[in-house]
Amino acid sequence: MKRIAVIPGDGIGPEVIREAVSTIELARDLFGLEISLAHFDWSAEKYLATGVTMPEGGLDMLASEYDAILAGAFGDPRVPDNKHAADILLGMRFGLDLYINLRPIKLIDPRLCPLKDRTPADIDFVVLRENTEGMYSFVGGNFKKGSGDEIALQEEINTRKGVERIITAAFEYARAHGRKRVTMSDKSNVLTYGHDLWQRVFREVAARYADIEANHFYVDVLVMWMALDPARFDVVVTNNMFGDIVTDLGAALQGGLGMAASGNIHPGRVSLFEPVHGSAPPFAGKNVANPVASIITAAMMMDYVGFNEAAVAIEIAVEKAVTEGETTKDIGGNLSTTEAGAAIRKRLKDGVDK
Ligand code: NAD
Ligand code: IPM
Ligand code: MN
Repeated sequence: MKRIAVIPGDGIGPEVIREAVSTIELARDLFGLEISLAHFDWSAEKYLATGVTMPEGGLDMLASEYDAILAGAFGDPRVPDNKHAADILLGMRFGLDLYINLRPIKLIDPRLCPLKDRTPADIDFVVLRENTEGMYSFVGGNFKKGSGDEIALQEEINTRKGVERIITAAFEYARAHGRKRVTMSDKSNVLTYGHDLWQRVFREVAARYADIEANHFYVDVLVMWMALDPARFDVVVTNNMFGDIVTDLGAALQGGLGMAASGNIHPGRVSLFEPVHGSAPPFAGKNVANPVASIITAAMMMDYVGFNEAAVAIEIAVEKAVTEGETTKDIGGNLSTTEAGAAIRKRLKDGVDK
């Protein structure tokens, strides 16, 4: 039995996760999978009502009782400091040591790409974003806060262990998935201590993978090439903050944030799967959000827990619904969230019944 914890979160999170969960349940029935789903209401709403973000013992419970976690999004205008998102989302990433943030960038329909004349073959790479340190470490502080002489410090933490394991994961990913090239991106021309560590470790690790090509772009040039010639990328590895930024651009290459999936992974341990997008407050409660990102995220999760056949079937169903135009408005269709989810499930069922 594979046990899944579902945390829909805020804003459009519950609406898109509902479609992902229905899709998982259909796949479970069609393929006869042993899978159980437990729902958790950790969210801004709960935090505002009770003062609790992640309940005490929450991480231990996830680690010991679940195989994977499916989350929506965390962020609410009523919580301007984002405290609950830091506790719940970053809490899981850091507390469960989910050091690989795997974000595939895959175009499934040429019409969705904002670049001209691109085919799905041109836009098919993955980003491995370091997920447990970097600028997300909350190390820093204020001096003379509120005064005209104020100083604000926010440190970037790069550890030998953290850098080495994410770079190694990128080469391992390349090998396991028949990818030919790993591109590391940093800003070592300016960040001459922290990102110099990335340079040294990258060279060292690359030398152990002679079968995989290794190259490097500073992050400013990386984003230029992502827009001009995304076909040159296969596997990209970068730090936490750059990975955050470049994967929203990556999402745009696929048709927008409604299309981008992600996994927060520690191989062999409970791992967290969530769409790349956030809670999109203006869209919340309107039944307009695109559920595709969450549904392909669910497919990634199914693959992670060992249900590869179901994962592939879900991906094919999504591709069919999208290429046949049965989608939400953000990618050119005219369906609601619930209708777009149902259109995918219809194709999933038809595909398996055949
Ligand atoms: P966002 O990703 O929520 O939305 C940005 C824009 O992308 C939206 O206005 C919309 O145009 C589009 N979009 C996003 N998801 C979509 C979907 N499923 N279907 C169609 N269009 C979609 O980013 P934001 O507005 O910068 O952030 C809103 C809140 O979400 C903030 O509180 C932020 O901190 C949080 N956030 C959370 C996560 C997460 O939980 N993983 C990720 C990003 C942002
Ligand atoms: C993401 C989000 C998060 C991040 C926020 C909500 C903390 O933007 O998952 O991409 O910065 O990692
Ligand atoms: Mn982001």
